[in-house]
Amino acid sequence: MELTPTKVQMIDLSRKEDGTNSTETFARDVAAGLGQSPKSLPSRYFYDAAGSKLFQDIMALPEYYLTRCEFKVLTENRQEIARHFANSSFFHLIDLGAGDALKTKILLRELDGQQSAFDYVPVDISGDAMRQLSDSLHREMPAVHVQAVVGEYFQALEWLHAHKSERKVVLFLGSNIGNFKPDESRNFLKTICSYLDPGDKLLVGVDLRKDPDTILSAYNDAAGVTAEFNLNLLRRINRELGGDFDLSQFRHYPIYNPHEGVMRSFLVSTQAQDVYIRDTGQTFHFDAWEAIHTENSHKYSMRQVEELGKACGFGIETVFQDDACGYADVLFTVT
Ligand code: AVI
Repeated sequence: MELTPTKVQMIDLSRKEDGTNSTETFARDVAAGLGQSPKSLPSRYFYDAAGSKLFQDIMALPEYYLTRCEFKVLTENRQEIARHFANSSFFHLIDLGAGDALKTKILLRELDGQQSAFDYVPVDISGDAMRQLSDSLHREMPAVHVQAVVGEYFQALEWLHAHKSERKVVLFLGSNIGNFKPDESRNFLKTICSYLDPGDKLLVGVDLRKDPDTILSAYNDAAGVTAEFNLNLLRRINRELGGDFDLSQFRHYPIYNPHEGVMRSFLVSTQAQDVYIRDTGQTFHFDAWEAIHTENSHKYSMRQVEELGKACGFGIETVFQDDACGYADVLFTVT
C-alpha cells in the first residue's frame, strides 16, 4: 500500500459549474475564432499532451533564450529573492501555471535551506502535472509543505483568499504574461490584486524589448519545433473535434512588430480550401494565403511594466534583471 505523504495535499477545483465540458468549450471557441474575419484561435489550446511536450522542446532550443535567461536571473538572485519573500511571518508561495516547477525549485531550495516559514501552493489545470510535481517535491524537499491546486488561476486564488488568511506571495513566471493582450494583462493583474492584501507580493517574469532579430529567431527556430508547436493546434482540432485540416497546406508564419513590441504567430493557408469540423457542424472557407492568428508574445519596456503594475494596484519592490539577456523578474507589492 502506498502511503500518502503527510506534507502533500491536493485540492481539485477543476470541475466546471456551468455543465459544459471542455470539448464543448473548445468547439465553441474554435467556431467563434474561425467564423470571424480575420480568423484567430486562442493560444491556450496549444497545450494538449503533444503541445506541452513540444513546448518543453522549445524551451531547450538554442534560439529560445527566455527559459535560460529566467533560470539565470533566478539562480543568480535566489538569496535576495528569498530574503524579499520571507520576513518573520508565515507565507503561502502560490505558483500560477506551475507545470514541472523547474524554475521555482531554484527558489524552493533556497527557502527550504533558509528554513523559511512557508508552504508551496502550485496551481495548474493539469491534475497529472500537479501529482507528479507533488511526488517529486516530496522526494527532493521532504520538509516543504505542498498543497497543490488543480484548477484555473482565478478559481485557485478565490479559494485561497476564502480559506487562507496568511501572507501571500504569487509567482507568475516564464513570460506567460506576454501571451495576454494588453487589456487581458491589466484585467489579470487587477484580479490577482483583488485576491491579495496590502504587503502581499507578486513576482512576474517579463521578456524585455531587444534586437528584433533575436526575438524573431526565438519563434522561428531552424529545427522547425515552433512551427510544429503552432501546427499542432490544427492537429488537436482534427483529433478532438473531428476536423479535416490538411496540415501540409498550412505554414507557420511568425512576425515581430518592434513598434508594438509584439511577436505574432500565424498559420497561413497556402491555397484556397474548405475545412469541415464535425463538432462545430460547420465548414470554414480559407482563401489562398488567408491566415489564422494563433498567438501574441508581448515584449515589454521597463516603463510599461511599471505603468501596468501601477494601474493594477501594485508598486515595484525590486527588479531582478539580466541586461545581456534582456529578461526581468519583477517583484511587485500590493500597495
Ligand atoms: C508560454 N509562452 C510564454 C511562450 C512564449 O514565448 O510566448 C509560448 C511560445 N510560443 C512559441 N514559442 C513559445
